[in-house]
Amino acid sequence: MTSNQKVAVVTGSSSGIGHEIALILARNGFLTYATMRDLQKNSKLKSIKDEENLPLEFIQLDVTDENSVKTAVQKIYDDVGRIDMLINNAGYGLTGAFEDLSIDEIKTQFETNFYGLIRTTQAILPIMRKQKSGTIVNMSSGAGRFGFPMGSAYVSTKFAVEGLSESLSYEVEPFGIRVILIEPGMIKTNFSNASIMAKKSIDPNSSYAPLMKNMQTGFNKLLENASSPQLVAQITLDAMTSDKPNLRYLAGKDVEQWVEAKKKMSDEEFHDMIKQI
Ligand SMILES: NC(=O)c1ccc[n+]([C@@H]2O[C@H](COP(=O)([O-])OP(=O)(O)OC[C@H]3O[C@@H](n4cnc5c(N)ncnc54)[C@H](OP(=O)(O)O)[C@@H]3O)[C@@H](O)[C@H]2O)c1
Repeated sequence: MTSNQKVAVVTGSSSGIGHEIALILARNGFLTYATMRDLQKNSKLKSIKDEENLPLEFIQLDVTDENSVKTAVQKIYDDVGRIDMLINNAGYGLTGAFEDLSIDEIKTQFETNFYGLIRTTQAILPIMRKQKSGTIVNMSSGAGRFGFPMGSAYVSTKFAVEGLSESLSYEVEPFGIRVILIEPGMIKTNFSNASIMAKKSIDPNSSYAPLMKNMQTGFNKLLENASSPQLVAQITLDAMTSDKPNLRYLAGKDVEQWVEAKKKMSDEEFHDMIKQI
């Protein structure tokens, strides 16, 4: 590690947006800890690291496991004695009509997307506070700005991330710590494959089956024009390295249009627009 090299920690680096963020940070000179819950998934990043001689390290970190989070953070701190950037990226989608969701499915969704982000942030914040500097990037979504059918659980986690980040930003600002929200639209990653369908919503007899089918067709169509994870990584890097970053950054033409529409339209007009998708 060089003397003024910044240290970054990324969660969920095994694929998609997290993979690209870890890569762009390492390529831009950050000593980057690409964390993932299953280290066997590091082979692609590892071969790029070796090819390009990048400052990339791999550490096991499952955001749902307190012990895993504490052990990973302690190991990084013991290694390099500082953490400048935390990118809370790990997450997945739970799909299904609200009535078809079990409370356990919703709790499990929150355990990763919301409590997972809280676990890593609470483990790293004391280090940043003592340093009197740091940047926390929370991967939200367009789903943190507006709701849509079959997404109530996922949308709730991202609204929670938005509220937490906005509040936290006031508290940590006096300690030189910045909080940034990244809000991607539809991005081509493993996200749809990894999404979990609520058990009851798989039942063709669910009262919501026709709506579910419509939504899936709509989503698949939107996915055709989805943006790349590289775009999200570039926006994240630009935000993190800005002298005075904004609280929120949209990532993708689609989400820019939806958020603009939401600003201009009444709730009822926006509701009608989402129904057309
Ligand atoms: N793709 C989109 O359209 C989109 C849009 C807006 C926001 N986002 C957000 O972007 C973030 C990344 O998603 P993605 O699109 O890159 O999807 P992805 O390719 O499925 O990547 C998700 C990452 O999260 C990891 N993860 C899941 N549960 C975890 C846990 N308990 N502990 C540690 N890591 C865990 C996954 O690890 P495994 O490989 O082990 O499963 C994977 O590395 C998520 O927060 C998602 O909500 C995505």
